[in-house]
Amino acid sequence: MNEICLIQNSGELQILEQLSEFSKVAVIVDENSLKHCYPQIKEHLPKHYCIQIKSGEEHKNLNTCIEIWQKLTELKFDRKSAVVNLGGGVVGDMGGFCAATYKRGMKFWQIPTTILAQVDASIGGKLGIDFETYKNHIGLFQNPEKVILYPGFVSTLPEREIKSGYAEVIKHALINDSKEWEIISKLNIHEADWFEIIKQSYAVKKHVVEKDPKELGIRKLLNFGHTIGHAVESYLIEDSKRKILHGEAVAMGIVCEAYLSYKKSTLSNDSFQEINNYIQKLYPKVSLSKNEISQLYPIMLQDKKNENEKISFILLKEIGQASYNNYLNWDEIVESIEFYLDQ
Ligand code: GLY
Repeated sequence: MNEICLIQNSGELQILEQLSEFSKVAVIVDENSLKHCYPQIKEHLPKHYCIQIKSGEEHKNLNTCIEIWQKLTELKFDRKSAVVNLGGGVVGDMGGFCAATYKRGMKFWQIPTTILAQVDASIGGKLGIDFETYKNHIGLFQNPEKVILYPGFVSTLPEREIKSGYAEVIKHALINDSKEWEIISKLNIHEADWFEIIKQSYAVKKHVVEKDPKELGIRKLLNFGHTIGHAVESYLIEDSKRKILHGEAVAMGIVCEAYLSYKKSTLSNDSFQEINNYIQKLYPKVSLSKNEISQLYPIMLQDKKNENEKISFILLKEIGQASYNNYLNWDEIVESIEFYLDQ
């Protein structure tokens, strides 16, 4: 497992000076991280180049990778050089993918700047890009040399992005940490202590990926809310008016998959209603009509957890405990989405 450094105050960012051991350093940024986060770390970085990419999931593709590889080649990066990914999940997944494949692999550090990337995407070495309509369809597992978690970046995020990342915090509590659910389910997120929340939440992710780095078993639990969430996110990605953030899709997925947990597993009705009410209060309703549900089917069939073309779900046994490899039929899945849309 890579080294994860949780930074409480900005002085501890001097750990970045260790990057001087590399022959060259490139910091991959998007327009947001360049504007809001790069100035906070710049003084601690040794001599480096910045490679700027366009922000947004719609740019997490091979074209952007080609731009990154071209730049590394022009700058004559070698295998003793390093890439630092400063940004959210898109920068981390794609920058890591480019580094792990450039000249058969160079070292990279993750400096996630969103809650989503701090508690989830930067931990556990999943790297990759989207392909056609499928999320993270091309990629590999490769751990970064270091992950620097600096919750100080949260104050640079718009509220919509904070809530999006918070969906992964909710997911971690629901699958693995009922005590944390007790705390966060009463939380006003405008008054949250993000250092404590991120510390607690990334610990769940770290614990799970250390036990199952290649997702052969329990790591699948981290996909709770994502079977339906990823399909909806992918379906809406090209629709400029209805496009949603990853966590907004996951929040919808959590409601649907909690509904399925109540119907098909042992989650009680009270617990299901508690989860449903909490999510519905916090997140706007995803704009989808019932006659579009069938369009999600081919996308779900490509889900990476599936086996033998059967759609696989994570279901909650109770709050804080979940199971994987639950194969549900399409009618059951449709019922859960209709339940969400009907509220
Ligand atoms: N985001 C789920 C995982 O890393 O396994």
